[in-house]
Amino acid sequence: MSRSVSSPEFEYTPSKNIYWEKLKNLPPDMKGLAFQDQDTEIHRGNWRKQFRVSSNKEVGSEIPLHVEIGCNAGHVCLEWAKQNPDSLYIGIDWKFKQIYRLAEKSKNFQVKNLLAFRANADRLSYMFEKGEIDFLHMFFPDPWPKKAQKKNRTADQDWLKSIAPLLSQRGVFHLKTDHAEYFEFIMENLAALSDIYEIIELSRDLHANNPDAKLLKIPQVTLFERLFIKDGLPIHSVKVRVKPGI
Ligand SMILES: C[S@@+](CC[C@H](N)C(=O)[O-])C[C@H]1O[C@@H](n2cnc3c(N)ncnc32)[C@H](O)[C@@H]1O
Repeated sequence: MSRSVSSPEFEYTPSKNIYWEKLKNLPPDMKGLAFQDQDTEIHRGNWRKQFRVSSNKEVGSEIPLHVEIGCNAGHVCLEWAKQNPDSLYIGIDWKFKQIYRLAEKSKNFQVKNLLAFRANADRLSYMFEKGEIDFLHMFFPDPWPKKAQKKNRTADQDWLKSIAPLLSQRGVFHLKTDHAEYFEFIMENLAALSDIYEIIELSRDLHANNPDAKLLKIPQVTLFERLFIKDGLPIHSVKVRVKPGI
């Protein structure tokens, strides 16, 4: 990969952001609810054991693990976690304050099946082991529209290839964006990786048949998605799974 953050030698550096310090020194009642930087890579392969679910119950691989990339302050994954106590959720974002807020909300709502990661999505294959993720969600990633910015796009071909092994056999990766050009870029990357990925659902206007789309609420739609629907923008959506044997 061209992005240096994706190299095995990469190390996060301390930030002056006050929430970096807050995440580093979480109060006792928030310990273990949020991880940041290198700490998001220390339990690779063992994340299911880090959830504060019932102490006398072993959390096995049969319990679905969802990972939401670019979760912001976790509007969607927090609601999912509340509504589905038998599934596990990890929300990842590189914004310090939003991840701290997510961990705070988990504590306040006593949600035990959600962890918040302050990390760069480029590091996904260092955070998770082969087959560890069942459902990967990436909703409205920053499109980096300018020519000089395109190298910053997360879902490039190298990244899509690197994350494929992380999905379990029942694994599904769902991606949504309002940005038609970024979507076509992703579709081209998926086509180039057609030996790895199989498209199982595809729409270039996800809510076309729903006259009440403007009324949809989180978590059926994301925070950004609601704004885009209000603006009349079509939502592009693709779900893929990894072909057997990858
Ligand atoms: C346009 S917002 C979408 C937020 C949310 N998914 C939604 O649909 O409402 C993109 C989010 O991705 C996060 N993000 C962008 N690049 C990232 C990266 N490389 N690693 C982690 N988070 C990233 C941003 O901080 C932001 O919260």
